[in-house]
Amino acid sequence: MFRLGYVAAGFLALIAVIMGAADSPSVAAYYSSFESRIGYWLLLGNTRHCGLYEKGALSPFPITKAQRKMEEKLYTRLGLGSGKLLDASAGSGYVAMYMAFKGFDVQAIDITPHHLQDARKNVKANGLESKVAVDYGDYHNLTSFAPEPFDGIYTMETFVHADNPEKVLSNFYRLLKPGGVLGLHEADFSRNSEKLQDVLRLSHCQNTLEEGGYERLLSKGGFNEYSIEDLTDEVLPMWRLFGIVGYVPYQIFKVFGIENRFINVMAGVEVWLNWGNGRYISVRAIKP
Ligand SMILES: C[S@@+](CC[C@H](N)C(=O)[O-])C[C@H]1O[C@@H](n2cnc3c(N)ncnc32)[C@H](O)[C@@H]1O
Repeated sequence: MFRLGYVAAGFLALIAVIMGAADSPSVAAYYSSFESRIGYWLLLGNTRHCGLYEKGALSPFPITKAQRKMEEKLYTRLGLGSGKLLDASAGSGYVAMYMAFKGFDVQAIDITPHHLQDARKNVKANGLESKVAVDYGDYHNLTSFAPEPFDGIYTMETFVHADNPEKVLSNFYRLLKPGGVLGLHEADFSRNSEKLQDVLRLSHCQNTLEEGGYERLLSKGGFNEYSIEDLTDEVLPMWRLFGIVGYVPYQIFKVFGIENRFINVMAGVEVWLNWGNGRYISVRAIKP
C-alpha cells in the first residue's frame, strides 16, 4: 500500500516537474491541470462536489450515493415545486440532471470548455436534452439573459471562485423572478492557516468569506429571508478520505518543495488537518 503511494508520488512529481505550475492559476488553468482532471475523475467520477453524510459517519463510501444526497439537500433547500432553474456553474452537469429528473427545466452554464463538453455528453446520454440546456456562461456577465426568467438559481461549490461576488449576486438578483429562490452550497473559511491560504489561492477559491460575510453580502444585494445551514460535520467523511489518501504523497512533495504543484492533494490534506477552520454551508435567500 505504502510502496504504491511512493510510486504514485514519484510519478506525479515527475509530471509536475515537467509541466510546471502557475502561482495564481485562473479557474480554467486549475480545472484543466493534469492533477485536477485525474483527481476529479478517479475519486469523484467528475461530479465536482462533496457528498452529504449522516453526522458522525466514518465511511465515505459509496461516494456517488452521498453526492446524490447533497443534490437532494440542495433541491429541498430550494423548496420549489417546479419551474426554471439556472445552474450557475454546472461542471459535468450532474446537479443540473438531478434537478431535471425532479421536473425542472434547467439552464446550465460554465466557463471550462471540457466541463461543458462533458455536461452536454451526459445530458444527451440521459435523454435530457429537452430539460437541460448547456451553454458557455460566466456568472460575472449574464447580460445575454433577459431579466427575471428564473424561479431559482443555485451554485454548487462554485461561488467560491467568484472574483467579484457582489457583481455575481447582483446578476443573480436581476435574473430571478420576484419571490425567486437563491441556493448556494459553498465553503466558508473564517480562520485560515497559511497553508489554507495557499490552497485557496492555488485553487482560485479567493471568494471564501469570513463568518457573517454571506449575510452581509446578501442583504447588501437586496435579498431577504435568508437562512444558513452549517453542513460541515456532514461532509467530513469525504475530506477525511482525501486527507488519508493524500497524506504520504503530500509529505513526499513537501520534501521536494513541490507541494504547490499538487493543489488537490494539498487541499485534501490541509483541509483535513485544519478541520474546524472553515465551514461548509447551505445558503438560501429570496428575492423580494
Ligand atoms: C467545483 S466545480 C463544481 C461543478 C458542479 N457544480 C458540480 O457540483 O459538479 C466549480 C465549477 O465552477 C465553474 N466556474 C468557475 N468560475 C466560473 C464562472 N465565473 N462562471 C461560470 N462557471 C464558473 C468551473 O468551471 C467548475 O466547473
